Amino acid sequence: MTQVVKFGVIGCGLMGREFASTAARWLHLTDTKARPEIVAVCDLNPALTDWFDANVPTVSQVTDDYKALLANPEVEAVYCAVPHNLHAQMYPDILAAGKHLFGEKPFGIDAEANATIQPAISAHPELLVRCSSEMPFYPGAQKVINLARSGELGAIIEVEAAFLHSSDMNPNKAINWKRMVDVNGAYGCMGDLGMHVLHVPLRLGWRPSSVSAALVNRFHTRPDGKGNTVPCGTWDNATITGHVDDADGGFPLVLKTWRIAPGHSNTWSLRVLGTRKSAYFSTQNPRQWQWMDYDGGAQVWQVEDLGFQTLFPAITGAIFEFGFPDALQQMWAAFLDELAGGDAHGFHCVTPQEAADHHAVLSAALKAGTQRTVEPVTYTGL
Ligand SMILES: NC(=O)c1ccc[n+]([C@@H]2O[C@H](COP(=O)([O-])OP(=O)(O)OC[C@H]3O[C@@H](n4cnc5c(N)ncnc54)[C@H](O)[C@@H]3O)[C@@H](O)[C@H]2O)c1
Repeated sequence: MTQVVKFGVIGCGLMGREFASTAARWLHLTDTKARPEIVAVCDLNPALTDWFDANVPTVSQVTDDYKALLANPEVEAVYCAVPHNLHAQMYPDILAAGKHLFGEKPFGIDAEANATIQPAISAHPELLVRCSSEMPFYPGAQKVINLARSGELGAIIEVEAAFLHSSDMNPNKAINWKRMVDVNGAYGCMGDLGMHVLHVPLRLGWRPSSVSAALVNRFHTRPDGKGNTVPCGTWDNATITGHVDDADGGFPLVLKTWRIAPGHSNTWSLRVLGTRKSAYFSTQNPRQWQWMDYDGGAQVWQVEDLGFQTLFPAITGAIFEFGFPDALQQMWAAFLDELAGGDAHGFHCVTPQEAADHHAVLSAALKAGTQRTVEPVTYTGL
């Protein structure tokens, strides 16, 4: 029988509501050990909690006080999707209340905040803690990952992981918390998108030992939505080049986190170039992945239409397209599977150690980018 896990949601904005949609259509998945049921919600904005109240019939607690939600004995697990400056305060409180935690990235506004979360995780080994990052659950991304894991790439020449979107293209877009250094963090676009580009490299053991970074702040002011112009100090784009050491002498790991990417709405891509095999996937072509075999002869990229061939099986026919809400549902399926004692079908969500490692890379990149230096990356074991 499918286990029911009762969830509280703290932060009912963009991502909180995506989770509600994911949970509501859990019947989409055909073979899961557990399913989420949202019983409690918390947000400061009553319009958002009203939305949950109206659309999620299982909700029995609505509050603007997250500690009241944590005191609810019915809540077994919490999805926390709040601005970055609140992670370090709320994540330890969630664990202290004895709830499993699915936290949003960047899992602390900076490395220091992340470090304050880690002791609470160590103090509760009985609780499952994972961080959000859904893009690697695209079937095409899984193909690239599996090829890399197979050991058939040969010596790696270069890896590029990119998240390119155009949310900051319009200079007249009003500022929001994601463009404010005190709420989003000094990382800027790297804090927003860094976990998305580092999840797969860190999972595959491609940890850069040093980084340089080109940081761009194109628009230094923005309208505040009330008729004024205010400073906007967050980085818009970052291109990080890391050096990954390996037995073949190492290779560059290029990470692009761009919020001003002409022509892109929300493109996540992964390209792995090896001496024997190469592979590429981009969400611009969500159904396809590409790969190239090289044995000394012709260099021919091959393209395969994959469709809906997912880690967790679903009712959708294998020929149809996979999209963003599907990636989110696959990610949640991985978390629920682990909660029920499974192995997430071989690809679990981001771990606390990976979150800490991603902070190590981003901190070094921020220093390298602002000082125009090459910086070593200092990883810390948990
Ligand atoms: N995985 C992804 O693809 C993805 C995409 C976007 C955002 N995120 C992450 O999700 C988190 C939230 O981002 P979002 O886009 O949903 O933001 P959002 O602004 O849409 O939602 C955040 C919500 O938190 C609420 N909030 C603020 N302070 C609160 C408090 N003290 N108690 C309760 N609620 C409070 C706000 O009222 C708001 O509704 C961030 O960490 C962000 O980086 C992840």
